[in-house]
Amino acid sequence: MPIVDGATPLAEQVEAAISAGADLVELRVDLIDDVAAVEAFLQTHDSGRIIVTLRSADEGGAWDGEDAEKIAILERLGLLLPGYIDCELALWERSANLRQKIGLVCDTEVDSASGSASRSDASDILRRKNQLILSVHDFNGMSALTARSDALLAAPGIAKIAVTPRDAGDSFQLLEWLRESSTRKRIIAIGMGDTGVCTRVLARKFGGWLSFAALEDGKSSAPGQVTITDLRDRFRWDEINADTRVFGVIGWPVAHSKSPQLHNAAMRAAGIEGVYLPLPIAPTYEAFAAFMNRVLATPTLGFDGFSVTIPHKEHASRWLAERQFSQTALCAACGAVNTLIRDGEEWRGENTDALGAIAALCAAQNEADARILKGKSVLILGAGGAARALAAGMKDAGADVIVCNRTAAKAAALANELGVRHQPWDQRGVIETDVVINCTSVGMTPDVDASPLPIAGLRRGMIVLDTVYTPEETKLLRDAKAAGCVAISGVEMFLRQAAAQFRLWHGRDVGVDALRAALV
Ligand code: ATR
Repeated sequence: MPIVDGATPLAEQVEAAISAGADLVELRVDLIDDVAAVEAFLQTHDSGRIIVTLRSADEGGAWDGEDAEKIAILERLGLLLPGYIDCELALWERSANLRQKIGLVCDTEVDSASGSASRSDASDILRRKNQLILSVHDFNGMSALTARSDALLAAPGIAKIAVTPRDAGDSFQLLEWLRESSTRKRIIAIGMGDTGVCTRVLARKFGGWLSFAALEDGKSSAPGQVTITDLRDRFRWDEINADTRVFGVIGWPVAHSKSPQLHNAAMRAAGIEGVYLPLPIAPTYEAFAAFMNRVLATPTLGFDGFSVTIPHKEHASRWLAERQFSQTALCAACGAVNTLIRDGEEWRGENTDALGAIAALCAAQNEADARILKGKSVLILGAGGAARALAAGMKDAGADVIVCNRTAAKAAALANELGVRHQPWDQRGVIETDVVINCTSVGMTPDVDASPLPIAGLRRGMIVLDTVYTPEETKLLRDAKAAGCVAISGVEMFLRQAAAQFRLWHGRDVGVDALRAALV
């Protein structure tokens, strides 16, 4: 865990980090910006669990002094036996002076150990010199991985590489490299930014020696760093091992997704050894297909299931069709898959959006059976991905579906494809219907005062479901309640589609109330 704050006493921060469960604590001397304070702290602290780092500006840090001064500081701090000294590989290569001085305070043998950091490492350290960490950073992409891999693996000490993945596909490239290289020496491999969160969580599964976590939000030393509480409580870092099954949500963006919160909590409660990650994949079919092809070709990545969200639901359906894998008739009809399930060496597609919507409608009516929709008229607002799945699902359940969309041509195309009716957008307030489902994005945060349906279109007894779930109570739902309708929040649908996914992946049920509790 890195410490970057010079204002709070270091002893207090190190104590907090160790009590929060950190195996090692990194003092970012460049950010703390007070060498004397670090020195004073190390004189009285002898755990051997401290990494001293004086990161240079050209490698993303704040140190912009001379090499000679930096070397002198590292030597001085190294003599106090913090445990570990981090130094950039570039500096190591260019400065014979550094190699000589660091050699006095660090073990500079070529590292042959592998495995992950633990508290017992500390006692070894105290008996010997400090351990050396040589690091490489790439804030623009992944090129350092190919350009610097050989040098890093041949150099002494523990290897650290931090790169900037464009998406989760790049992150898995890094993790594969980690798995191959970690048999040779101890390695820290980090993907920075939101696109690299999976590298921080899965480091242990792939043989990484260490992952970095922040003590709390706002105290991170690099973009995308998760907090130690998230790493240990949400992602169950301490239980991750080479056999941990991996699940995740593929989308762009996905940082805001609540699915990791739900599925990790549900797996934990059910005692399932698995982890569920946000997996941002660039918003093109090519990026999606490249990621899935990598998953397919590399079963050792350990993926067993994915949720798929905007803009990849259509891509998932197309990819399954191209690979001649199966998908349900509903997925084929609406051209959208929101759940991928590994079946041996194949993948198959399901769509739980309609299941979730139908289950939410049933629950609001205290009915267990989708037959309550038979013969009911259902007005679908919108003609995008969500509308396609829900219109197909409602039609399957025997409802009389009418589609209304701002862009009339899209409503007509969807209605014709599914064999349902469509009406002009400006008629949506006068259509006589039993159920209205909003599948547009109107009313979503931050546009919370907008509603897709005029108040005049709401009649007592009507059932109104909003697929928008942020905010939980939209303007449409407030209007619906005021007009005496049954108002159902998108959260109810979201929880039930997640429960359906859980059943598909794990073969068992999870209670909607347990999922709801995980959302809070
Ligand atoms: P999703 O996959 O969530 O359905 P989408 O495919 O982008 O997302 O579809 C968004 C839907 O919201 C579309 O039906 C869109 O209408 P258009 O087809 O006319 O674009 C609808 N939508 C978005 N903003 C809207 C607005 N301000 N008023 C009415 N409809 C809107």
